[in-house]
Amino acid sequence: MEQHGSMYQDKMYNQIENYMTNVDEVMDLIHKYEYLFENRDGAKTFNTSYGDASLKQIHYYNMPKELTEAIFKTIPMKWTNRLNYCINKYEAGDHIPKHKDSDGAYWMFKLIFLQSDKPHFKYWDDEGNEHLVEEKAGALFNMRLGTPHAVTEIASDESPKYSICIMQGLDMNQRKVA
Ligand SMILES: [Fe+2]
Repeated sequence: MEQHGSMYQDKMYNQIENYMTNVDEVMDLIHKYEYLFENRDGAKTFNTSYGDASLKQIHYYNMPKELTEAIFKTIPMKWTNRLNYCINKYEAGDHIPKHKDSDGAYWMFKLIFLQSDKPHFKYWDDEGNEHLVEEKAGALFNMRLGTPHAVTEIASDESPKYSICIMQGLDMNQRKVA
């Protein structure tokens, strides 16, 4: 194995089930704080082109302590500085067009599925093939940084879809913590 490659590249496009084992607790708290969700303003906050993305989020800096604690209670991940996380909520009509989150090498991106009636998370592999992910509650979806992905539109008869994004600094001396 080459030493200079990111360890995460060995696990491209894997869904790791039961990464979070207290999804029910987290979801109960999310419902308690539903009023904290705010519309994401694509133009203002996304680095990359999100087009007409539509979703709601609770960012870490607005997150109640008990919700943060529940999120980090069971996932095998330690705190570091430069940790950034948010909860995403997609209601009927919400979606994110195909995009890449960051082209920089400084951030590691983790996506944890919480709830969805149907699969909506889609990514494109190195050959440009499209894959729709069978989203499992509590699963971590591993993808290489820079992987194009999208969230397809939630239909009117579906309950909201929820997920958690965690972005972490990837300084050389911090790589082991994830
Ligand atoms: Fe994204």
